[in-house]
Amino acid sequence: MLYSKKVMEHFTKPKNVGKIEDADGLGIVGNPKCGDTMEITIKVKDEKIADIKFRTFGCASAIASSSITTVMAKGMTLDDALKLTRNDVAKELDGLPPHKMHCSNLAADALHKAIENYREEKDKKE
Ligand code: FES
Repeated sequence: MLYSKKVMEHFTKPKNVGKIEDADGLGIVGNPKCGDTMEITIKVKDEKIADIKFRTFGCASAIASSSITTVMAKGMTLDDALKLTRNDVAKELDGLPPHKMHCSNLAADALHKAIENYREEKDKKE
């Protein structure tokens, strides 16, 4: 079996799919290796991720990685969410095939960008 049970679960029934219309932060990244893209929107309350959604034009691994990233990040402080790496994502999925590890970058990178976007916008207002 190429993919773990958890990857298949999150690929076939992804969590937190969509876009938060009045989002506090937006992160969009493209994967230079395959051209796939990922978008993450977040809602922030008390420096924690109160809500998070994703949309992707990506492969099964990218969808599963994004889904599990949103599950992991929800409720986290922004500082902790910024520390999430592609390895954390892959570990939580019980592993990804080595040639698919780059797909898990999309989710972590888009999450980090959304947090950075939130902080930039907040700085502008202050
Ligand atoms: Fe493009 Fe996986 S092949 S994200």
